[in-house]
Amino acid sequence: KGFSLSISAVSQNDTTQEVQDASKRALAKKAVGLVKSGMVVGLGTGSTSSLAIEELGRLINQGKLKDIVAVGANYQSRVLARQFGVKTVDLNDVNNIDIAFDGADEVDFNKNLLKGGGAAHTMQKVIDSMSKECIILADQSKVVLQLGSTFPVPVEVLPPAISPVLRRLVTLGGVPEIRSALRKDGPVITDLGNMVVDVSFPNGIQNPAELEKSINMIPGVVENGIVSGVVSSVMVAIQDRDDVIVM
Ligand code: 5RP
Repeated sequence: KGFSLSISAVSQNDTTQEVQDASKRALAKKAVGLVKSGMVVGLGTGSTSSLAIEELGRLINQGKLKDIVAVGANYQSRVLARQFGVKTVDLNDVNNIDIAFDGADEVDFNKNLLKGGGAAHTMQKVIDSMSKECIILADQSKVVLQLGSTFPVPVEVLPPAISPVLRRLVTLGGVPEIRSALRKDGPVITDLGNMVVDVSFPNGIQNPAELEKSINMIPGVVENGIVSGVVSSVMVAIQDRDDVIVM
């Protein structure tokens, strides 16, 4: 296949990526600054949450934070936590979570989210919704006027119920597509053993809370990626100004 990428295009992309990574790291540092010794911390997934896990580990290893236990939303966050020296416990071993950090694929100005790009939204929602304070870390590209503008709604579905669920999603105005695994000839299977359907809504999502409930009412649906009424604050990294805005 013909490649037409020029050298300058590559270096420009690299620079953009580096700037993005640096602003995500600054964001993670600022967010983890809210953690106090003795807290139970919820760990989300994705590249931004991973930086927060790394930063949390750094503060623990430097002795600046003591007696921290964490609960991770999936294998990725639990493995990373251990790698960076953050002690994890089972979600069922804690009565509450003091603070949770998570990423998002889209955020609107009412602090509603679209999650599930990494197929981990079900347990992320459990952790986010049981935290006293749920902090979302996002770069400015994630902020949208209306959810669903740039990303479909991920829906985790019990595999034996896939066909009836797809039909019901269509009746809600959605265009569902089963998510398939890269380099594998088959569907993505979540940590919980289910399939993921990405549903776009060509007429837009006017009422995220209502759609979140309607999708979850479909028998066979485990959880969908809309998160409404849960988030305490959203920290948005503003690249050009090297700044963080809190919504
Ligand atoms: C995974 C998620 C992630 O939080 C979301 O995809 C954001 O990831 P990133 O910080 O890498 O952009 O919902 O299911």
